[in-house]
Amino acid sequence: MTEPAVGFAGGKLILTGEHAVVYGFPAIAVGLDLGTTVRLEPVDGETHVASEPADDRLLAAVRAALPAEGLCVRVSSDLPIGCGMGSSAALSVALVRAHAALEGRALTPDREFTRSLELEKVFHGTPSGLDNTVAAYGGAIRFERGDPPKIRHLTPPSCTLVVLESGEAGDTAALVAGVRSRHPGNQPTLDAIGALTAEIEAKLDDPASLGPLLTRNHRLLAELGVSNARLDELVELALAHGALGAKLSGAGGGGVVLALVEDPQPLLDAAAARRIPAHLVTLGGRA
Ligand code: MEV
Repeated sequence: MTEPAVGFAGGKLILTGEHAVVYGFPAIAVGLDLGTTVRLEPVDGETHVASEPADDRLLAAVRAALPAEGLCVRVSSDLPIGCGMGSSAALSVALVRAHAALEGRALTPDREFTRSLELEKVFHGTPSGLDNTVAAYGGAIRFERGDPPKIRHLTPPSCTLVVLESGEAGDTAALVAGVRSRHPGNQPTLDAIGALTAEIEAKLDDPASLGPLLTRNHRLLAELGVSNARLDELVELALAHGALGAKLSGAGGGGVVLALVEDPQPLLDAAAARRIPAHLVTLGGRA
């Protein structure tokens, strides 16, 4: 049997700048090892998706990315879907990579970014390009939208994060539209997030200073209307169990909270006691 063509792309966590990035402010995000794999197997007949759930948006992305005939598509992911960890961008880049592998080509990250951005539009309308950039390049990135976007590769901060799942999926397109519907009244909050991102960038390697800035970022996102009671509760839980700072990460409305910690154990124990799914993420080679 012919070997399947395989493409993998990692998810991301946004450290700062979600939503404000849509209005031209910079954002900083880090790529993750967790991600999405697409396998393409040659078959007779129409291209179809064999894995579940094959929702309408996945089918539309597959139609846009691949030939209409001759492929069985299997998608597997260790990223929670709709949780702010870049699952749709990882899927878009993984589809582009699998297709290139099928054709025996390797694409540059620039091409992967451009092609996957078209697919990402299937998932949520008008993406800034931040999630695709991180999925295509990996590592830590400072991103400003534009055509082309301004991308700066950063040294990943050496820190430990605990990611807490809220158990609810956020709808990125609806959340971005909600912020837009309150614009320009919310411009001062967006300006404050923009200024905070500059402070965060300057303190990336200083966890004691970075923590409170991340918490301030969460409060501004709440002011922007993209947090909810569950996310606020998870931020408080993290702060009560030793986190230096915590914030929602991604579009909000559900999804995940990231907590910057020195010792992850108290928060991991508190999460386990409350049956909250938690992931330990170490950046910059920190053990
Ligand atoms: C979603 O991961 C990040 C948002 O800023 C939307 C975008 O950048 O397209 C909320």
